[in-house]
Parts: sequence; C-alpha cells; structure tokens
Amino acid sequence: MDLATFTLLSSGESLDLMKVVATRWSVTNGLALGTELRNTYPPELVAAAMTQHSLRLKARSKFGEAAERMWFTPDALEQSTRLSVAQHRAGRLVELGVTSIVDLGCGIGGDLIACAQAGLTVRGVDLDPVRVHLARANLEALGLDGTVELGDALTNTITPNEIAFVDPARRDGRGRVFSLEGLQPPWDFVSGLLAGRAVAKVMPGIAHTDIPEGVEAEWVSDGGSLVEASLWGAGFGSSVTRRATVLPSRVALTASGAVATVGPPLTFLVEPDDAVIRAGIVAEFADSIHGHLLDPKIAWVTTDREPSGDEGFLGAWFRVIDEVPFHTKPLKAELTRRDIGTLTVKKRGVDIVPERLIGQLKLSGSATATLVMTRLNNVGAAFLVEPLGHQRHTIS
Ligand SMILES: C[S@@+](CC[C@H](N)C(=O)[O-])C[C@H]1O[C@@H](n2cnc3c(N)ncnc32)[C@H](O)[C@@H]1O
Repeated sequence: MDLATFTLLSSGESLDLMKVVATRWSVTNGLALGTELRNTYPPELVAAAMTQHSLRLKARSKFGEAAERMWFTPDALEQSTRLSVAQHRAGRLVELGVTSIVDLGCGIGGDLIACAQAGLTVRGVDLDPVRVHLARANLEALGLDGTVELGDALTNTITPNEIAFVDPARRDGRGRVFSLEGLQPPWDFVSGLLAGRAVAKVMPGIAHTDIPEGVEAEWVSDGGSLVEASLWGAGFGSSVTRRATVLPSRVALTASGAVATVGPPLTFLVEPDDAVIRAGIVAEFADSIHGHLLDPKIAWVTTDREPSGDEGFLGAWFRVIDEVPFHTKPLKAELTRRDIGTLTVKKRGVDIVPERLIGQLKLSGSATATLVMTRLNNVGAAFLVEPLGHQRHTIS
C-alpha cells in the first residue's frame, strides 16, 4: 500500500467502505462483494479496503481485538511484535524506572503501542514513510499518545531522558536474514546502543558468543513457542547474563552457572520450554525441580517431584508409565499388547521421523498413548508417558 492509497483509505468517506467490507466480508463471497462495491467506489480503493480487512483478520493473532482498528501492510504486519511480548517488555521497562522511549525503526508501531499502553512517553522513528503514517494512525486509533517521525535511526538524536529501543529488520531484498550482519539498522549501531541503557529485540537464534559484554539476554516464549530474544543494555546494570521468560505467565528462570548432572529416569520426564533451552539454562531448570538430565547432551529432565507453582510453566511435564522397547518390531508388539491405536511420538536426540514410525507400527488398538523416544547415554530409549493435566501456558 502506498501513501496515497492509505490517505484515501483512512479518509472519512472510505471509512464507510471499510465498515461495509468488515460487516459483509463473512456473509458475502469476496468476489461478489468486490463486484458490488466497485459500483460505488473506485476499483483500486475497493481492492485496498479488502486487502486491509484481510490483514486485520490476520493481525488478530498478534493484536487481538485491537487489530480491527489498526492499519497494516503485509510486510510490516509480518515484522511487527505481537502485543503480549511487547507488553511484557514494556512492563519490564516500567519496572526498571524508564519513563520515555524512542523506538528507532518502529514499523507499524507494535512496540510503541505496548509502551504507550504501559504509560511510557513514546516517540517512533522509521525510514519508511508509509510505516510512519501507519504507526501514527495506529496510536491514534487506539487512543494512545505518542509521536512518530520520518527519519534515520543512525542520525536521530536520543534525548537524555529517552531509552532507545530497536527492533532491527531481519529482511533484505532477498528475504529473511538469520545473521546479525544482515540487520537494519545494522548490528554495529545496535551493539553500540547496548553499551548504555537501551533495549534491542533480536532473533532467538542469536549465539551466546554474540551477546555483548554486560548485556542481559532474555529469551521469550509465548504459549509454548519461542518468539524472540531481548537484549537489555549494559547500562541497566543487570547481574543476570541469560534469562528465559515464558508468557503469558511471565515466569522466568536465570543463568546461575549450574552444572547438569545425569542419572536414570525418575517419576516424571520434563521437556524444558524452548526459551529455557535457548538460554542455555537446562541445568538450572533441572536444579530448580530437584532433577537431573537423562543424557548429558539432550534436554530431557527427570525428577521425582510433582510440579508446583512456577515449575509447571517452564516445561511440559509427563508422568512415566513404563519403559518400552526402542526398536520398531518389539515396540509394535508391546504397543499392540497394550491395545494402543493412536500414538503421539515425542522425540529428542534420536534420528526418528515420528510420522514414519507411526506408519510402520500400523497400530489398530482402541487406546491412546504418548511415547517419548530419546537416548540414555547414547543408547536409544523409549517411554510410555502420560502428559500431566497441569496446564503450563495459562494461569487459571
Ligand atoms: C522489524 S521492523 C520493526 C517492527 C516494530 N517493532 C513493530 O512491532 O511494528 C524494523 C523497522 O526498522 C525500520 N528501519 C530499518 N532501518 C532503519 C533506519 N536506519 N532508520 C529508521 N528505521 C529503520 C524498517 O523500515 C522497519 O519498519
């Protein structure tokens, strides 16, 4: 969407068009609706309104109900931070006593919105004129204060009371970039900011060795999916090097230098959340639940202790029913003997394709089971387990 189309689409007359599209979208087929609306409105405007509406529907997974009033382009929506994660970061900024932020590369304003909602004074800057307008319109649509400027992060002056936030683009002209070298604004600029009181959002795959000295890295997962890493600048003086936070509970675990111990399977098997694994704090997690690893190189933790409180949020818990044969033929015989027909396979550290294994087993029983396939000191091992009713993603 170019600026002219956005200006037209967000003008008084077109807002009626947006309303018609929103109310008729689900009941009328898109083609027929388009044809009908083109009798009243210019075709480009109808096409833009329909695209905008479908982006709003898509954006609900990131922004919830608010998406219905917001403005997007496909790329900018793709790049935006989901609100739950942005709200967590904004909450931490408030806890750290921050009152004002400048978002250097604010896109359509995902982070600006969360910071403004948290009560911070917000200023956005972006190189892209369309995004500047969309971010401004999004703050306004949600009744939030804030300013958004067209400009280059590299030359923008950060005022003394502002904390810089930067979520560099991870795309170049050819697609997604996976290394720090491809970021825009560039990593040199970002890491320079991180020497002070600044926060950066980066890819969760960032290597521990790339994290600048004195910076706290926080891996965040939401609803069980690892979504990003936040780097908290050395100027915040955090004593934490690495942290895992799981949303929506906001339960966190930090690095302490614990060394993992290895031992036999106990009553429960626990698969640590990906944020815990990426933060490299599986040993700390094992310690926190009075457990140990099944194998020094594989992230399965085992313990005799029932999950209580926060522990349940940091991993998926399974009660061990029995160890069963690892190899397909005796495994099939054992599962058949147990009348199992529907199998979920969870594998870690072994070269198995669950769908293929399930196909080879050809089970036809009436019971349902979960099978963990892993390694114990380099030897394949399989366990029938029962997922604990404990719900780790939501607080009831
Ligand atoms: C990943 S997006 C930010 C998304 C944003 N956090 C959100 O939630 O909507 C990165 C943004 O940085 C902008 N950008 C890249 N280099 C920039 C620069 N040198 N100065 C200002 N903005 C820049 C891009 O135009 C893009 O909108």
